[in-house]
Amino acid sequence: MNTARTAMLDALYAEIHHCTCCPLHSGRTHAVPGAGPLDAEIMFIGEAPGFHEDQQGIPFVGAAGQYLSELLAGIGIDRKRVYITNVIKCRPPGNRDPLDEEVAACKPYLDRQMELIRPKVVVTLGRHSMARAFPNEKISLVHGQARSVGYNGVDTVVYFPMYHPAAALHRPSLKADVEADFLRLRELLDGKWEAEVYQAPPEAEQLSLF
Ligand code: URA
Repeated sequence: MNTARTAMLDALYAEIHHCTCCPLHSGRTHAVPGAGPLDAEIMFIGEAPGFHEDQQGIPFVGAAGQYLSELLAGIGIDRKRVYITNVIKCRPPGNRDPLDEEVAACKPYLDRQMELIRPKVVVTLGRHSMARAFPNEKISLVHGQARSVGYNGVDTVVYFPMYHPAAALHRPSLKADVEADFLRLRELLDGKWEAEVYQAPPEAEQLSLF
């Protein structure tokens, strides 16, 4: 256990709990920084806390979270072994989509979580999360593909975009895709196939990851 990194993660959580960087703070019950071990090799990034997450301060504890836990168990992954967070840390009113300025205000927190956890694989759940790495893509075209992306000039991380589990709960026709993508994730982790090396387009200079 790396105590310096643990202390930094705790300090980051404290900052998030007291954050007033965007108006969402005024409506929250709890900010929802993230959950999972510092040494997690897989990070799941959702969109934003919903009602239950706001009540409890823990990500993915509502219906979408229950489904996520089942999907993980289905490929032999204990949810306690992965790190789970969201693009924004406070619940938008009525669960509306995050606004660009809210995503921008929260971005430094997600960047710091990435730096501290240093996951090998980042699974983005839904298009808002995917857009952090691939802003010009359509999730219907890239879900289930793995791309190895260089970041901070040293490390690489494999991004694996998926549909949001809540989308599959609302549109059952997406369930087959979501479940197939989880099986592909299992095979990726088992080394049965490899991520393609992603060449960032020139405009990626502005992105968080490059
Ligand atoms: N949906 C998300 O994107 N995140 C949560 O934490 C819960 C539901």
